[in-house]
Formats: sequence, structure tokens, C-alpha cells
Amino acid sequence: MGDGLKVAVTRRIPSVGLRMLREEFEVVLHDSDKAPGRETLLRLMSDADGAVTLLSDAIDGALLDACPRLRIVANHAVGYENVDVEAATARGIVVTNTPGVLTDATADLTMALMLAAARRIVEADRFMRVGKYEGWDPRMLRGMDLAGRTLGIFGFGRIGRAVARRAAAFGMEIIYTDTAASPEAAQQCGARRVEFDELLRQSDVLTVHSPYLPELHQRFGAAEFAAMKPTALFLNTARGKLMDEAALAAALRARQIAAAGLDVYEDEPAFRPELAAMDNVVLLPHIGSATWGTRDAMAELAARNVIEVLHARPSLTPVNEVGKS
Ligand code: DGY
Repeated sequence: MGDGLKVAVTRRIPSVGLRMLREEFEVVLHDSDKAPGRETLLRLMSDADGAVTLLSDAIDGALLDACPRLRIVANHAVGYENVDVEAATARGIVVTNTPGVLTDATADLTMALMLAAARRIVEADRFMRVGKYEGWDPRMLRGMDLAGRTLGIFGFGRIGRAVARRAAAFGMEIIYTDTAASPEAAQQCGARRVEFDELLRQSDVLTVHSPYLPELHQRFGAAEFAAMKPTALFLNTARGKLMDEAALAAALRARQIAAAGLDVYEDEPAFRPELAAMDNVVLLPHIGSATWGTRDAMAELAARNVIEVLHARPSLTPVNEVGKS
């Protein structure tokens, strides 16, 4: 038992994680499904030894300064751009994320978005519900074939590669860009590494799987959408800030690209209202990792990271050097 140690949890997370933490520590929970405001976050974390945070919590240097006992920030997500890792490292605070456990769920959801956008699933469902179906019609609701088409993957990490494996089974050709080559992984699904402009020009479906980094802010903007095929689909299950959402809406409106499937937005939970009025866009509320098993695994991994660090052992999935020592 971690005597007197306190862990802040900034939102209701799956109970498996809370149970693990409560067995060891005093847990102060923001008992809500809504993100805490800055004041609440400060109150929650100011005397905590560890914290489980979400991607909507801005964990910056000023906040960390107000938390003198804090030894670990365990982000309940694989992405961690909400945490100022440099500031945490400078204060000797371990930062961890939840890689690996959400790869398959996110890749599955990407395929669901691809199929939904290619085969107009949401539009067809609406069509049924408003009583428009009057009988089989050879020209009705035609969509895009996937077999033989080219899938372009921006970011060939765990999730990008898991999408590639799935798409290869659908008979798609795979091309990708990444700062690092992954020859073995690429070989498994016959993927070919290309330059970014070729990715834009060649992809019939372009899917984004990169972490958000400041240098990749709005990497997909007006010029990039204009360079894509007018028949192309654009998918983003990674981070909204990797795309210029207004430019995407304009490109869809101008039919510079054919359709989009989005699970993330530039300024969540807000999104461009014009997207909601378009039949050729499928919109999801950031549910890439939302399966029962995956969310349990994320909560468990975040809790295990806190337990390890507060017992003075190395964390399992650190993202900074403090965690690696
Ligand atoms: C993450 O983990 O970064 C996702 O966006 C939420 O699962």
C-alpha cells in the first residue's frame, strides 16, 4: 500500500483502472464525463503524487509548478500532445501514454470509416429511414470499389501498419510516407514508401495516422486537397490539428476530393458546421479506441504506470527520459 500517496484521476475512466489505483492509493476523482476546467484540474492535482489525465487536459508548466508532489502524469491515450513533456521532464515528472493496446481498435474504426465513406453507408441508412427506398435500382447509391485501389497512409507507425494489413486483405495497393522506413512491416503487406507529393497524387483513399507535432500543424490544407484526385477519400482518425478543417470543407464542397471520414477535429468537441450538411462526409465523435476491451486496457495500463512509478519502479510506457531511467 502506498502510504499517504494520492492519485488524481481527471475523469471517470473504466472501473478496472480506478479499482487498481484504489487498492494502492487514495484516489481523488473528477467524477464526471465532462472535462474539468483549469481551476478544478488545479484543485484535483495540486497535492497529488500521481495523475491519470485525458487528452483534453492541458498539462503545462504552470500547472505542474502548482503540483509540487507530482511524480507521474499517466495520459489515458496514446497521443500526449496535451502534456508539455519538456516541462514535465525539467521537473523530474514521468509522462506515460497507452501505446499498443488501442492499435487494433483504431485500425478497425479506420476501416469502418473507409467502408462507410466508399460505400455511402450513412447516406444509405438515412435514405432508408426517410422512406426513400422504392425498390432495387442498378444506379442507386453507387460507391467506390476498394479492391485494386491505392491506399495512402500518412504515418506508418503501429496504427498505420495495422490499417495497411487490413487494407491488403481488401486487395488494395498500399503506399505510405513516414520519417522512418519500415521495410519489414512494409514487406508484409507489399507497401511502398513514397514522397509526400506522390502520396497526395496517387492515393484513392488517403488516411492519416501520425501523432500531432507542431511542425505537422495543418499538414493537410488547401494545396494538399487540391493535389489529390477528385475521386479520392480522405480519412482522419489521428488528430484534427493535422488538417485544416475549413480547407477540407471547401475542398469537399468544390468536389476537389470526393468524400471524407473523420473521427477527429481541429478544436474538439467543435467542428465545422458545414460538414454536417454534407452527404459525402461521415462524422464520428473521436471513438477510434472506444471498444470495451480497449478502453479497459487503456485504463489498466495508465493505472499500472502510476503504480510502478509511485512504488519507485520504472514505468511501463514512458515518453520521456525521466521515465526511462
Ligand atoms: C488516443 O489514444 O490518443 C486517442 O485519440 C484516444 O484513444
